[in-house]
Amino acid sequence: MSLPTASHVRQQFLDFFASKGHHIVPSAPIVVKDDPTLLFINSGMAPFKDYFLGNKPAPFKRIADTQKCLRVSGKHNDLEEVGYDTYHHTMFEMLGNWSFGDYFKKDAIAWAWELLTDVFKLEKDRLYVTYFEGDKADGTAADTETQDLWRQYTTDDRILPGNKKDNFWEMGDTGPCGPCTEIHIDLRSEQERAATPGRDLVNADHPQVVEIWNNVFMEFQRLADKSLIKLPEQSVDTGMGFERLMMAVSGVKSNYDTDVFQPLIKFIASEVGLEYHGTAPATVNDQPATENEKTDIAIRVIADHIRTISFAISDGQLPSNVKAGYVIRRILRRAVRYAFSSLGQKQPFLYKIVPVLADQMAGIFPELKQQQQFVQRVVEEEEIAFLKTLENGLRRLETLEEGFRQNGSRIDGKTAFELSDTFGFPLDLTALIAREKGLSVDEEGFKKELEQQKSRSRNAQETEQSDWTVVRESEEQPAFVGYDQEQAPARILRYRRTDRKGKTEYQVVLDQTPFYAESGGQIGDTGYLESPLSKVRVLDTKKENDLIVHTVLELPQDLDAEFTARYDHARRAQIQRNHSATHLLQAALREIVGSHVAQKGSLVNEKLLRFDFSHFTKVTDDQLRQVETLVNARIRQQIPLDERRNVPIHDAKALGATALFGEKYGEFVRVITFDREFSVELCGGCHVRTTGDIGFFKITSESAVGAGVRRIEAVTAEAAEAFVNQQLDLLAQVREALGNPQHLLPGIEKQTEEIATLRKQIEQFAQQSINQQKDQLAGQVKALHGVNFLAAQVQATSADGLKTLAFNLRQAVPNLVLVLGAEIEGKPQLAVMLDDELVKGGKLNASTLVRELAKEIQGGGGGQPFFATAGGKNAAGLGAAIAKAEGLIGGLLG
Ligand code: ALA
Repeated sequence: MSLPTASHVRQQFLDFFASKGHHIVPSAPIVVKDDPTLLFINSGMAPFKDYFLGNKPAPFKRIADTQKCLRVSGKHNDLEEVGYDTYHHTMFEMLGNWSFGDYFKKDAIAWAWELLTDVFKLEKDRLYVTYFEGDKADGTAADTETQDLWRQYTTDDRILPGNKKDNFWEMGDTGPCGPCTEIHIDLRSEQERAATPGRDLVNADHPQVVEIWNNVFMEFQRLADKSLIKLPEQSVDTGMGFERLMMAVSGVKSNYDTDVFQPLIKFIASEVGLEYHGTAPATVNDQPATENEKTDIAIRVIADHIRTISFAISDGQLPSNVKAGYVIRRILRRAVRYAFSSLGQKQPFLYKIVPVLADQMAGIFPELKQQQQFVQRVVEEEEIAFLKTLENGLRRLETLEEGFRQNGSRIDGKTAFELSDTFGFPLDLTALIAREKGLSVDEEGFKKELEQQKSRSRNAQETEQSDWTVVRESEEQPAFVGYDQEQAPARILRYRRTDRKGKTEYQVVLDQTPFYAESGGQIGDTGYLESPLSKVRVLDTKKENDLIVHTVLELPQDLDAEFTARYDHARRAQIQRNHSATHLLQAALREIVGSHVAQKGSLVNEKLLRFDFSHFTKVTDDQLRQVETLVNARIRQQIPLDERRNVPIHDAKALGATALFGEKYGEFVRVITFDREFSVELCGGCHVRTTGDIGFFKITSESAVGAGVRRIEAVTAEAAEAFVNQQLDLLAQVREALGNPQHLLPGIEKQTEEIATLRKQIEQFAQQSINQQKDQLAGQVKALHGVNFLAAQVQATSADGLKTLAFNLRQAVPNLVLVLGAEIEGKPQLAVMLDDELVKGGKLNASTLVRELAKEIQGGGGGQPFFATAGGKNAAGLGAAIAKAEGLIGGLLG
């Protein structure tokens, strides 16, 4: 039987809602910018949050799409279950249809039923639906309307009430929310169904009785004080887990047995030379009982995680040690760990799966195919680094092993925590290794350490934020006028208070503002809000979704007044220079380094510009110079800014405008051009009127940021001048230090030559001194039990010199036993040299002798039987060592 393909089923969903008047939109990037409450898109509705809240009008009343989602942190967190069961994922596609103040419960329910039963032909008696039973504390009533609507389609025994946890959907601690109706499917066999009715298993974590679709009826907004207020409009937000839908329409018992995962699983299994059996532990908390279960879990973990990792990276989130980047790094490491310990993969391997996924998804998410090589590179480098970390951790465990054995054969909690914190060794891996070594792990102790760390970081970031206080209602969208105006009359619409680490600040939203809110790498504006009665400093401007939020230290007393909002002119002018220079830099890099150069990050502030881009090797000095020259040439050309607002995205792309991966663009965009043949970019930032305003551009550094990503930092105008002057000052200091030669380079070359000549002379003197000493020493040799014996303290400038002296003496004196000592750069050094015949005799060994003698100088050493050396700490002991030699050797020979 061939499985339905993922692309076909996805298309059926989209076509169905298109036929019901929905506008189909592409998935937003999975990585979230401009929203302090979210790191990743965690549900289909997250990109539309502003429409529900009424912050912004929806462009269409009805929308449908498939949205890439990630649930591993925050309110919806499934990470540890992934791989153990067969239906949870880190990344999943959420199919959704939305009504923004348009249709409500009746149509949503009718269409859900029609799609599932008519289009997908799911059996009606396998479907169960739920409705919200109400909640006293929230003061919300039971949703009997939904219950009644369902009665038109199914029987009462399949319509189940549900509590706030299951049937009142909230995006996060605050935000839009409302009662929901879930649709569950029972995929068990006929016998199983006859034995236990499906209704008893709804919401009971049964792998074959699962929720596939949630329809939320958005009516409320949850405030920070936990209370609910009504939203201006009633809306519908739905989410259908695509991978689970695939399981249902494919008639299989696991998401992993569908076309979504099978290509990945087949590839992984063949790469590691194992078979996938599709087994799973009975419950998620069970450890795998068999070897097959263990390898199946690992294969599922990898098949799941590679999707998250790849899409996050292609949407612009590189693995790192903070925030969203850390989430991705942890997931990647979880995959490496399973590959390492369950599938025996000691070499990087995940990166090889990326092309399989990219091909599979090319039709719906082409961004991965377009960046396949880059994503592979990043993943491979991460794997290499983590495998090394694992190795170091293993070594650390080995060095501590003896200690553990003496302490009850147990790895203490502190060490287990250190392994996890420093070496990225999760507890279960430590436990696994411990088991193999016959040790146990103090898991309680580990948990205690972990809790302590958590509370430390909680205290460090504690931020409290009040809800917005509305000062005045406004029908209009707050406007940004800062492309054209430096100042504007403004009224405060709302404000709130933020306490961070004991510091209080306020945030205000204005009806219009010239302040640019940090985005696209450009830092937020600073400036003043001024009324006849007060003047407050604006410290920063940030975006929160589409809201422009100004941070001020104190609230003006006359909140209601008309203010003049004015940004800092000089600072903004320098920011604009740096921003426009970044565009010129990007264009020049693409011309000189190659068209593969794509922006991976940028920072533009009043001091500098920083541009991160994909490129696999160091940019050469020569290339950097060419880039700089080209940018400066464009500056001198005084190319005028060509700024176009509200360009339809298709037209902009047709112009060849450079867009960013992972950036969410609307239907209309702003296009910034400096010469149509040179630099055309989609950009919301602030720019100079002509390139001439930039003045002067200077690259200050080029470096690696991570795998496949390089970073260039540069400065413009006065900062560039200052940089050049600094370099010149440095040069002047060097000149002075060299005694002001007339020509600097020949001066340095002359000095280098002189040093080389002096070195040679020193070597010659040292050689002469050795020869002299040799002749003198040869005269001091005396007979001792049939050998020629000599022990003496000598002058030597290096260990090599001492060695040469020893060898020369051996050549000059037959049958020699020689012990030399010297103080070299303040440290005692001993050498023992024996004639070959004596070594053969077996009574003497230079290594043993030198070790014995070295005790006198508090040192140790070794070497070969005929020649050995030792260094030590106590130079004062040299005499004793030399004196001891005769007795020691005489004793051995006699
Ligand atoms: N927003 C709803 C969910 O994620 C549909 O379940």
